[in-house]
Amino acid sequence: MKAVILSGGSGVRLAPLTNTITKQLLPIANTPTLFHILELIKEETDIKSVCVVVSEDYGHQVKDELLSSKYNKHFDFDFVFQDKPLGLAHAVQITNMHIGDEPFLMFLGDILIAKEELKKAYEKFKKDNSETLVLLKEIDDPRPYGIAEVDNGKVTKMVEKPQNPKSNLCLSGIYFFKPSVFYAIANIKPSYRGELEITDAVDYPIQNNKKVSYYVIENWWFDIGTPENMIKANEVMLADLPNKISSTISSTSKISGKAFIEENVSIEDSEITGPVIIAKNTKIKNCKLGPSVSIGSNVTLENSKIDSSIIREGVKIKHAVLSNSIIGKNVEFAFNPESVNGIKTMYIVGDNTKCMSL
Ligand code: G1P
Repeated sequence: MKAVILSGGSGVRLAPLTNTITKQLLPIANTPTLFHILELIKEETDIKSVCVVVSEDYGHQVKDELLSSKYNKHFDFDFVFQDKPLGLAHAVQITNMHIGDEPFLMFLGDILIAKEELKKAYEKFKKDNSETLVLLKEIDDPRPYGIAEVDNGKVTKMVEKPQNPKSNLCLSGIYFFKPSVFYAIANIKPSYRGELEITDAVDYPIQNNKKVSYYVIENWWFDIGTPENMIKANEVMLADLPNKISSTISSTSKISGKAFIEENVSIEDSEITGPVIIAKNTKIKNCKLGPSVSIGSNVTLENSKIDSSIIREGVKIKHAVLSNSIIGKNVEFAFNPESVNGIKTMYIVGDNTKCMSL
């Protein structure tokens, strides 16, 4: 059993954050989504070989990050460059030489799921002995996704982004395939958006009376492709972190709720409400932080109020009130001291930006 992780895509809905980094490497609870996925595969399957499909623009960034990570000891990585965004099924097709004649897990690199789900789905795939097993998630509005129509416990049809969905079971972006999927891909045509859709490749065996089974994700699932979803995923993942404080906190500060605080963090005259994660070498003074805030390393925060936000490494913030915000690397925010009495504002700010008030 091998794995294919798709880590291409333009990430336009996350611009300007994705002007400098691919979305799969953006941190959720201070860890890139791709690493969360690798951790699940490592803990919940016996897969040792992972083929990562990357785009021309960010391929080398992904390759460098993975090869210098702790996962390079556990997995054998292969990288395949997809030179044009011709669809997810096309991305799978170009891994054919690496996968050979083995079944494989395909995981979209911008998807996060709770622990134990992948394990249960993998066990079901082995037990069902089907051509494909798709992981589905019941959601209120599945129109932006692919959906599975199910009748009497049997999948009858897969439709990509239907206007009038006949089911609210969306395709989660996680699939188990037998190599017959390469034959299916060779038999499908590009969709209205000019792409070879993986949804059509999954539908192909269904329409040809082959066995396709499914597993419905019981716990949480996120597609981190929008700022709103990134912030929600961050919230949920922070709630799962252990309580661990590895720095000495000044007696003028108060921490309540779960906090994961790394070494060499200084917190003075501040109120922290968990869940929060604060990475090393960060300085916090006269702030109200939390709940649901993740702060990268080497950040300086002063006289600010922040909740439900992701603050990346090297950021400097003075006199700001932020909520539902994502602040890129090395951003500088310096507002007037009275701004801290203003209303909460949502900011999505790309790396290395300066935001100052005169
Ligand atoms: C892709 C798939 C879709 C699936 C979704 C999950 O959509 O085509 O079937 O439901 O991922 O995130 P896309 O990201 O291309 O819009």
